Amino acid sequence: MQIHIFKDAAQIGEAAAQLFAAKLLQKPDCVLGLATGSTPLPTYDALVALHRRGLADFSRVRSFNLDEYVGIDRAHEQSYYRFMYDNLFSLVNIKPENVQVPHPVSEDLGADCDAYEAAIDAAGGIDLQILGIGNNGHIAFNEPCEVFPLRTHIVHLTESTILANQRFFNSADEVPRQAMTMGIGTILRAREILLIATGAGKAAAVAAMVNGNADPRCPASALHLHSHVTVFLDAGAALIL
Ligand code: PGA
Repeated sequence: MQIHIFKDAAQIGEAAAQLFAAKLLQKPDCVLGLATGSTPLPTYDALVALHRRGLADFSRVRSFNLDEYVGIDRAHEQSYYRFMYDNLFSLVNIKPENVQVPHPVSEDLGADCDAYEAAIDAAGGIDLQILGIGNNGHIAFNEPCEVFPLRTHIVHLTESTILANQRFFNSADEVPRQAMTMGIGTILRAREILLIATGAGKAAAVAAMVNGNADPRCPASALHLHSHVTVFLDAGAALIL
């Protein structure tokens, strides 16, 4: 795990966007693993700026998002599908047919999960995966548990995640209780992983990830099992390392 500490979230966004732009140059038809939340926004802003300067071409890129709530429509302003269109997809030249966001809507949510996992495999796997980290150490919606989930699956969100995400809704009651998420195994199959954490609120989760062994009670600690992980932190997130 290679750790870099930056001044602030904006600087991390610039650095992360450069990492993504380099990947697009090395492999123009690469497969990106994308995340939602506050953390990747400066990265997406900086990537859009690079795209506008002709330095990031998404015309052959394919992408898979980490997760999506169960039970909210794609048009809902808090759907992760909508988030990605508003903050990245509509602002760069990625083709709509090349982006995938989990879409847990069928009668058989398990089949939706299997199909998503199969689509990632059929695309040849993810080349570069961006991750945030939850206050409780979750990555994607893999909440602390007893065994690392290996594949895309349906989760029940923990109280801590519901409370953390209520800021995007009118109240905690409106936050969906379930989500579809890549598993820890899905994430570990990405060839390269970039985890970003900003703000002192993430310091404890970051310390648990960095200092502990791989333990499903801190899902992000699974990244110790991967050989190509880069971690970008600001001073707040690195506070108790
Ligand atoms: P955040 O969420 O980027 O909105 O802090 C991160 C996460 O929960 O993975």
